[in-house]
Amino acid sequence: MSSVTFDAASRTYVLRTPSTCYVLGLDDGDVPVHLHWGPELTVEQAVTLPREQAPPASSFDGRRAGEELVTEAGARFDPPSLQIAFPDGVRGVDWRHLGHTIDGGGLTVRFRDALHPFEVDLHYRVHPDSDAVERWTTLRTEVPVTVLRCDSAAWSVPALPGYRLSHAVGGWSAENGLRRVELAVGETVLTSRRGLSSHHANPWLMLDGGDATEEHGEVWSGALAWSGSWRVTVTHTPSGHATWTGGAGHEGLTWRLEPGEEWTTPVFSGVYAPDGFGGASRRWHEHVARHVLPVPDEPRPVLYNAWEAVGFEAAEDNQKELAALAARVGAELFVMDDAWFGGRTSDRAGLGDWWPNPARFPQGLTPLIDEVHRLGMRFGLWVEPEMVNPDSDLYRAHPDWVLHMPGRPRTLLRNQLVLNLARQDVADWAHKWLHKLVGEHGIDFLKWDCNRAFTEAGWPGGPDQDRLWIEHVRSVYSIMDRLRADHPHLRIEACAGGGGRTDLGIMSRTDQVWTSDNTDAHDRIAIQRGFSQIYPARAMAAWVTDSPNPLTRRRTPLAFRFHVAMAGALGLGGNLLEWSSAELDEAAALVAAYKDIRPVVQFGTQHRLEYGVQHTFGDRVVVLAWRGPVAHGAPLVPLRLRALDPLGRYRDEDTGRVHHGAVLMSSGLAPDLPRGDYASALVRLRKENP
Ligand code: GLA
Repeated sequence: MSSVTFDAASRTYVLRTPSTCYVLGLDDGDVPVHLHWGPELTVEQAVTLPREQAPPASSFDGRRAGEELVTEAGARFDPPSLQIAFPDGVRGVDWRHLGHTIDGGGLTVRFRDALHPFEVDLHYRVHPDSDAVERWTTLRTEVPVTVLRCDSAAWSVPALPGYRLSHAVGGWSAENGLRRVELAVGETVLTSRRGLSSHHANPWLMLDGGDATEEHGEVWSGALAWSGSWRVTVTHTPSGHATWTGGAGHEGLTWRLEPGEEWTTPVFSGVYAPDGFGGASRRWHEHVARHVLPVPDEPRPVLYNAWEAVGFEAAEDNQKELAALAARVGAELFVMDDAWFGGRTSDRAGLGDWWPNPARFPQGLTPLIDEVHRLGMRFGLWVEPEMVNPDSDLYRAHPDWVLHMPGRPRTLLRNQLVLNLARQDVADWAHKWLHKLVGEHGIDFLKWDCNRAFTEAGWPGGPDQDRLWIEHVRSVYSIMDRLRADHPHLRIEACAGGGGRTDLGIMSRTDQVWTSDNTDAHDRIAIQRGFSQIYPARAMAAWVTDSPNPLTRRRTPLAFRFHVAMAGALGLGGNLLEWSSAELDEAAALVAAYKDIRPVVQFGTQHRLEYGVQHTFGDRVVVLAWRGPVAHGAPLVPLRLRALDPLGRYRDEDTGRVHHGAVLMSSGLAPDLPRGDYASALVRLRKENP
């Protein structure tokens, strides 16, 4: 059970999740101090947690690390979470406790500044079915202030002899590269300044004492629900404390709040796990499924997308041909990608002109959509609403709609500019054509792309310049929310040149994320492993494409490509027109196998194995095993399965062989891998009735 308790005598707030506990309190100076984040404690135990500060060690020291939001006031020298400049030149917030509200699993602790009519609310939320603690901050002011930084939350972990930081780095077509490094003493900044959560860093982190493994050890983790620029600063003090503070916006952005204004940050959630990185990931997967994704329990359809097959040549004929083959192999959703609209025949023109290209779709989209429906599939469409090519009717009509700065060149990336969705007129335009497009054609699915980073992020003549970094993202959210409300059947895939916008913010209004433009199954293993640290399999779109892979030229067997993609929401993206009939038959069989294991993969619990992944759901266990290039003589250790019933018997649904749970967990399962490079296997086990 989750709960929030306040102990008035000690001014302690105790938040309990099903298996963890988070405690904060107020010290004598009303400062909200962090007291505990870890295993369960009773209220009686929690009130004894020490909170009073030892006097500073010298005149060069200040407060010990460990506040719920670090402000600039007084002797504080850690990176501030909250930097406020008042009109009289005073900086920071000097906490005065105003009270609190407890509402089910929600807690709001209210403060004001000692001097100014300026209020800060610290919000917390826990759920009965998730170990995540959700946190965010609200500001309210009666005087004009400049916000130099307003993080969602600051987090502290227990003092340990050393720390290790896990996080993800990468680039286009190389997202989610997992890094596990000793946490330097000093400040480590994880950030994006690109206007997107980014391919280069992903807004999550994990800390452990250097001793955690995949299934053992304590791990503290956080993930920010924000899809624009962000910053998380992890501090490891020379005295041995580790904290992080994080929120929306990169360093250097400032904006004003006017009297009467209220400012709410995105949610920054935290998960403590006593059972290793895998335990942390499974708690995140559960949390995302139960409290983030809008329609978590609907099986993600097997989709076909023709981007890699036709590129910028999309036209009614080739789409219909591909649709017929997609239906033949078992696709349930046909998605037409880029180049169906305006003068878009390459990436140099047409973005912004959202009507069917008359030469390619002489009777509009209806004949194709009708054909896709006749073939028994749903229909989806690619859109990129936040962008414009200068060579477009839209840009010729509204050159002022893009992010730009007077006198500066408008930097083109992929030959396009960013529309300023912080402008209400631009946001209204985007919503209007999307609403009409989806409504007129009964479109089931949008792949919402965003193919460049922000530059010259100015708004000449507009209000507060830097605010557009935040307001643009809020506008994207609000358009998606309105579309979903008006078209309840609509499902959305988030995409930004692959996985450049993978975060809990976008996941709260989309159904899946296009994980990467890199569809090479071998590279995908690492990309997917990084994705799985926080995000669940059902949200991880994974396509089977051609061999050699168009990006890497690597050749891999069809079964290997399938077995890797089957670990997520399976899709197909190859040029089916060039697949032999035998390949199409093999693909159809593998799609059918995926549909059989889909509930296990999409709704089960996930254990990452040494060279594969195990999904467990009810009495079913699915193991997907993949091996890359093999060195002669390299050992192939059996995969030790996890979390089975040691007394249970598990029948291999394909071979009929019966395994004992205890043996599968101790000696392991030796998957029957064919010889050679890029071998793979799918093993389906079902627990037999005792
Ligand atoms: C991005 C996406 C691709 C494809 C292209 C179309 O790169 O990630 O999947 O949609 O845009 O231009």
